[in-house]
Amino acid sequence: MGNIKDPREEVIQAWYIDDSDEDQRLPHHREPKEFVSLEQLAALGVLSWRLDADNHETDDELKNICEERGYSYMDFCEVCPEKLPNYEEMIKNFFTEHLHSDEEIRYCLAGSGYFDLRDQDDVWIRVWVKKGGMIVFPAGIYHRFTLDSDNYIKAMRLFAGSPIWTPYYRPHDHLLARKAYLEAFGRKEAGNRACDAAA
Ligand code: LAC
Ligand code: NI
Repeated sequence: MGNIKDPREEVIQAWYIDDSDEDQRLPHHREPKEFVSLEQLAALGVLSWRLDADNHETDDELKNICEERGYSYMDFCEVCPEKLPNYEEMIKNFFTEHLHSDEEIRYCLAGSGYFDLRDQDDVWIRVWVKKGGMIVFPAGIYHRFTLDSDNYIKAMRLFAGSPIWTPYYRPHDHLLARKAYLEAFGRKEAGNRACDAAA
């Protein structure tokens, strides 16, 4: 028997990006490629599932996730010039680094896109989400979004309660959500060292 692959990996892949300023819709792999595992993403507070996108209306697994996590709101967002008002401006805003005071929950129903996030050392990780991939970015994580070169995504947006989509563009380090994020998922070394020194 070969390795049994986590089915999520077919629709959610992550890697460290290079620092070239070329077209944001290109993959921007490093040379050699440096992939990031779903476990590494989980350590940054990022949750992920693979779901049955064609049956999202009747999917019990999705229903269970919503019940467990309190997701009471959902809508659909298509990113393409015909469906997204102020397309060019929105594309720019999506790709400007920001955080939210709540989780960012996206379930890709068609197409694909890149959700970039910062790791604990402030280095960009690119998360490629394709049809059937659902991700949760925790409140307070710095991130951005871009279409890939296929230029299309249809996503379900979910939210716990009444949706607040406000982006707080970096820097917004004084926000409670940012502090709580660092408390939960940031590096602890500096604090530990201070404790050692005091001991
Ligand atoms: C958002 C994504 C684009 O805030 O980060 O909707
Ligand atoms: Ni966002």
